[in-house]
Amino acid sequence: MKLNQCLKSLVIGAFALALPLTAQAAPIVIKFSHVVAQHTPKGQAADYFKKIAEERTKGRVKVEVYPNSQLYKDKEEMEALQLGAVQMLAPSLAKFAPLGIKEFELFDLPFIFDNYNELHKVTQGPVGAKLLSKLEAKGVHGLAYWDNGFKVMSANKPLKTPEDFKGQKLRIQSSKVLDSQMRSMGANPQVLAFSEVYQALQTGVVNGTENPPSNLYTQKMHEVQKYVTLSDHGYLGYAVIVNKKFWAGLPADIRTILEGAMKDATKYANDIAKKDNDEALAAVKKSGRSQFITLTPQERAAWKKTMDKAHKEHMNRIGADLIKEVYAATGYNPN
Ligand code: LMR
Repeated sequence: MKLNQCLKSLVIGAFALALPLTAQAAPIVIKFSHVVAQHTPKGQAADYFKKIAEERTKGRVKVEVYPNSQLYKDKEEMEALQLGAVQMLAPSLAKFAPLGIKEFELFDLPFIFDNYNELHKVTQGPVGAKLLSKLEAKGVHGLAYWDNGFKVMSANKPLKTPEDFKGQKLRIQSSKVLDSQMRSMGANPQVLAFSEVYQALQTGVVNGTENPPSNLYTQKMHEVQKYVTLSDHGYLGYAVIVNKKFWAGLPADIRTILEGAMKDATKYANDIAKKDNDEALAAVKKSGRSQFITLTPQERAAWKKTMDKAHKEHMNRIGADLIKEVYAATGYNPN
């Protein structure tokens, strides 16, 4: 009897000890949803963030990365973040207007950045910080900007001059600036979720599209596009965002570690972006599926001149002061 009682209290004691341990051991889960393939700048940076965040928090945080629109498509992922169904996203800067922050569309203005250096003056400068701070009012906290790259234009006919665009149905992201850019060239822009682009190109729902080479290649768009114009006419990149309430509710030490991991993942993303896009372009070329078109300086100048209409049309909508601040940082000049 005595022995039984003793055993009983030992068992109860063990449970009592184990319970708080188990409760403490349950990791904080961060669901990180994105729409691109794993082998892209964003896909690899998300995986890298997972790795270092889990290592540095010693298992107290688990990051579940869901690539390729597995969990949500473009529009749904924004809603899911606000509702708290996922905690982290890295949508393209062209996709923030539905959240109520159209200013991010300044990144879509054609020819606004000539290279990554000019881009970083904005993403790593006061304008970048100002835009991220606007997210707070929407229940979203902005953590970082991740680079992707400069866009090529693809279609089933060669797109060399603005006249070549006439009547072409071209897929765009949900950005009014991109809509203006395509209309300025005489094309008919159509907004489609990223996950729907390959099929839309294959079935002829649209004739062409624009994207950095890393997206073109990993989605196999080049297999259903006869021509790729190496125009570098615009930029596509990301803001990494989290649900504000979730982020504020994290234990302070964990949040500090995650901020450090995000800083390092951002460096990683921005270090690999150009190389990854160069490699993707080389792979598209090697595949022989689409023919490359290089623009002469005069042809490129004609694109720029025509597309400048998008700047004028959105000057007031985005904010003349903000756009002028970007012009001052990047040296944009319509001529
Ligand atoms: C697109 O929809 O074309 C891109 O925003 C996809 C992405 O996330 O790079």
